[in-house]
Amino acid sequence: FGRNLKLLDVVASTQDVLRDLAEQGAPEGTLVVAEQQNQGRGRMGRSWVSPAGKGVWMSLLLRPDVPLLRTPQLTLLAAVALCRAIERLTGLEIGIKWPNDLLVDGRKISGILLESAAEDERLRYIVVGIGISANLDPEDYPEDVAAKAISLKMASGRAVDRAGLIAEALKEFEDLYQLYLTEGFEPIRLLWEARSINLNRHTVLTTARGTIEGVPRGLAETGGLLVELEGGRIETVYSAEINPWEQ
Ligand code: BTN
Repeated sequence: FGRNLKLLDVVASTQDVLRDLAEQGAPEGTLVVAEQQNQGRGRMGRSWVSPAGKGVWMSLLLRPDVPLLRTPQLTLLAAVALCRAIERLTGLEIGIKWPNDLLVDGRKISGILLESAAEDERLRYIVVGIGISANLDPEDYPEDVAAKAISLKMASGRAVDRAGLIAEALKEFEDLYQLYLTEGFEPIRLLWEARSINLNRHTVLTTARGTIEGVPRGLAETGGLLVELEGGRIETVYSAEINPWEQ
C-alpha cells in the first residue's frame, strides 16, 4: 500500500481526488495525502476540520472482490488498523466508538469515512478516508467540536511525526487486509470487540428511522452491531450514530 502515492498541498477533499483516480483505473493501495483540505467531510454529512500541516488527511483505495454487503466489515477493519498504528506510535490507549471513531478518554482523535462504488451488488472499489488529528492545538478546533475532540499532541504532550504515522497506518492496513482476505472477518471481529467502548453498556443509537435503545453485545458476522433490546430481543444495526456526550 502507498507505493502509488499522490502528495498534494491544498485540496477540497482527498476523497474526491482519489475517487477520480479510482475511476481512471488506479491500483489497489493508491494513497492520496493532502496538507490541507478546505472541504473535508465526515460521516453523516458533517464537515471535517483539516487545517494545514497539522493532521493526517488521506484517502486509501481498496478493491476487494467481495459483495457490497460486506462493506460494514471493512469499516470495522479500518478502525482496528488505525487504532493499532496510533497506539504503536504514541503509546496512547485508544478506544473505538462504533463503528469507527477513535477516542482517547472519550474525545475523538480520528475519524474514518468509507465511500464505495458497486456494480451488480459487488464492490468495485472503496475509498477509505482517514482523518487523524495529529498535531492540532486547542485553538484549531471550532467551538462546537472543541469539547468532544482532542489531538494526539494534546493527549500525549508531544508532537507526532506525521510521515511515521502514515507509514505505520499503511502497514497495519496492509496486514489486516491480508488477514481479512485469507481468513475472513472473524479475526477482525475479535480485534474490534476488544477495543470497543460500547459493548455491554446501555446505549442510544440514532438511526434514519428513529432511535434504538439497548445494550450492544458484539458484532454479527456481517459486521452489523448486535444490540440487545429491552425484553431480550436482538437487533442488528448497520447504520446509526451513538452520541456518548448526550448520554
Ligand atoms: C468522521 O469521523 O466523520 C470521518 C472523518 C473522515 C475525515 C477524512 S480526512 C481525509 C478524507 N477526506 C475527507 O474529506 N474526509 C476524510
